[in-house]
Amino acid sequence: MKQYKLCVVGVGAVGKEILRILKERNFPIASLKVLARSAREMELDGFKYQVESISHDSFKGIEIALFAGTEGEKGASVTYAPTAVKEGAVVIDNGADFRLKDDVPLVVTEVNAADVKNNKGIISNPNCSTIQMVVALSPIYKLSKIKRIIASTYQAASGAGQGACDELYSQTAEFLDGKDLTIKALSKRIAFNVIPQIGGFTELDYTSEEWKLVHETHKILHDNDIKISATAIRVPVKTGHSESIYIETERPLSVEEVREVLNNQPGVKVVDDIKGGRYPMPYQSEGTDDVFVGRIRKDPFVPEGLWLWVVADNLRKGAALNAVQIAEALIKDD
Ligand SMILES: NC(=O)c1ccc[n+]([C@@H]2O[C@H](COP(=O)([O-])OP(=O)(O)OC[C@H]3O[C@@H](n4cnc5c(N)ncnc54)[C@H](OP(=O)(O)O)[C@@H]3O)[C@@H](O)[C@H]2O)c1
Repeated sequence: MKQYKLCVVGVGAVGKEILRILKERNFPIASLKVLARSAREMELDGFKYQVESISHDSFKGIEIALFAGTEGEKGASVTYAPTAVKEGAVVIDNGADFRLKDDVPLVVTEVNAADVKNNKGIISNPNCSTIQMVVALSPIYKLSKIKRIIASTYQAASGAGQGACDELYSQTAEFLDGKDLTIKALSKRIAFNVIPQIGGFTELDYTSEEWKLVHETHKILHDNDIKISATAIRVPVKTGHSESIYIETERPLSVEEVREVLNNQPGVKVVDDIKGGRYPMPYQSEGTDDVFVGRIRKDPFVPEGLWLWVVADNLRKGAALNAVQIAEALIKDD
């Protein structure tokens, strides 16, 4: 089997998970370079990694570059992804910078893995909330077109990076010690609170995170006609995003047929046993690979309306795992 020269950019919450998943899934690696802003030795699960300081010279000979650095104008991907592509690598980017560009496939492997073939050097990994939503909705979409989606997300602190996750712990300790809370990584207090804002406020007073759910879902499902609106909320959970999702389909679907199609979908686990008090919860999703779906029920007034509760590990399926699965889809035919 061919082996590949890889690099991972960023060793924060997502980058570390990428390193774990490459190992777990025995990705065929000829060499692995780990890059971040500052060089150091890093220990992860008993293995030592030499983290090198990134520069434009870092990508010589690299075939696949998994980016999990910062976003934006001066972020890792905008600064270094074009160099990596010039050097011959295919970049798989976790950030939002390239996701909506026409020549950049946006891929969730259970939904549109074939789109990886259309890459011109960069493939984007969608936003964590989008990934788990489309994994759960795409099998239902195959039963009947989805016309409308209304989603509320309950997003874990680690979704905003290692700093936000650390802040959940430090603020909780400060609160319990009766001290003033230090607010740094997130814009508002996260301990014993929920924040109805993720990203900046933009068009029609929705946040950038809420628009990601709209535009990315359209692109992945290849259907711009779905009417989508969302509220994205940060909650004091360490890892595991939850979503309350309402959909309207073209033809009315029964709970049984939805449950059956989800039961047969790779990457989905239905946990929907209300008599036994079982439904998906974020802390149980941590460290797992599936998208968990429960609380499947009909709208009492709208025959085409259905509710779902969808939970997944935001660092794994919501980011690192999907990125590695994109790399696997990329090399599948080699
Ligand atoms: N967390 C999630 O659930 C999630 C889900 C989906 C997508 N994402 C996206 O994944 C990316 C990484 O997120 P994260 O949560 O892992 O962030 P994070 O915990 O803040 O870690 C960021 C890492 O990137 C490195 N870095 C920052 N700027 C860099 C640059 N210019 N060049 C090279 N390395 C740089 C940092 O290096 P140093 O360690 O040297 O400072 C750090 O190791 C972001 O684009 C984020 O939007 C995150």
